[in-house]
Amino acid sequence: MQPELQNCRVVIVNKHIYEGEMLQQIVLQLGVPLDRITLYRKLHRQYVRTINSCDLLILEYSLYRYSQNSNRPFFTLPDNAALLFISADTHDQQVMELLSRDESDCVGYFWHEYEATGRIKQLLIGHILKKSLQGEVEQKTKQLADTLEELTLRLAEAIEGRDLGTGRHAKRISRYAEALGRAYVAQPNPQDREALSLENLPALRRAALLHDIGKLAIADSILKKRGRLTDSEKAIMNSHTTRGANILKGSELADLQAAFQVALTHHEKWDSSGYPQGLQAEGIPLMGRIVAIADVFDALTKRRRYQTNPPIEPRQMILDMRNSKQWSGHFDPYLLDLFAKIEEEVLALFNRGRRHETNSP
Ligand SMILES: [Fe+2]
Ligand SMILES: [Fe+2]
Repeated sequence: MQPELQNCRVVIVNKHIYEGEMLQQIVLQLGVPLDRITLYRKLHRQYVRTINSCDLLILEYSLYRYSQNSNRPFFTLPDNAALLFISADTHDQQVMELLSRDESDCVGYFWHEYEATGRIKQLLIGHILKKSLQGEVEQKTKQLADTLEELTLRLAEAIEGRDLGTGRHAKRISRYAEALGRAYVAQPNPQDREALSLENLPALRRAALLHDIGKLAIADSILKKRGRLTDSEKAIMNSHTTRGANILKGSELADLQAAFQVALTHHEKWDSSGYPQGLQAEGIPLMGRIVAIADVFDALTKRRRYQTNPPIEPRQMILDMRNSKQWSGHFDPYLLDLFAKIEEEVLALFNRGRRHETNSP
């Protein structure tokens, strides 16, 4: 008995009762429990779900061809199962094509027990190994992603620990930036399809978390100064963009390249009056334009310790960003419209953040 086959599910579809039962017996002898072997005499749409969740499908080829040639074919071969066809002509062109897929094999109508046993065993063991490898890869990939997420969060907390902010600014703007990024990706014709996709939304979120990483290199005397900054102090403060970019530059990792861009460009303005490079309009990378909106929205809707003005009500802030002279020329108008369109989501995130901050120590 092969203990590793105990958890396999096998479906046999064969119109000949005797042959079906012989195959069932073979699978049983290989160690698959009887209650995990399903025997059908024909292909029926009701069986599709069971077939799609099996590890090995042993299928009489003529039944498959019959279902494919019907007026309303309802059956497609399962993506994640090994396949053993039983065919009168193992050299049939269509059978040969089906055999080109992974994890598939074929026996002729007059198969011998030893031959069928060998092929079924090989297919099942190969499938189990593949599944366990896939599981391991998925687990490691998730572990890596979780590690990256946690390291980024801790780094963001370290950055804010140096600042006089509320300590949660980066987390909040990463949520706003991700929401705006998702809305952008969902547009039928986003201006810059290359720059953002569903897959790199996590990279945008993490880049937003690190947008002020350059503040690690700014002296406390400036970073924590309560009064107005002198011009030279302001220049040093503004250099958190280039200092952040210096920390992140030169990486070949897409996440760090995104973080580099955002650290460098999140204070650029659409009309070129921003810093450090005075970039203009689409010359500012998309992620930088997104984080710029999230950054300002958060800075003015949340009271920070060094600010004396009361925070602005978030709905009003979205209106102001679009209409008031103060913000004219600051932001990408297309993104700003989009930000207004997802106002309800932004407000929900704002309120969620407020609840979370009230409940935490
Ligand atoms: Fe900044
Ligand atoms: Fe910021």
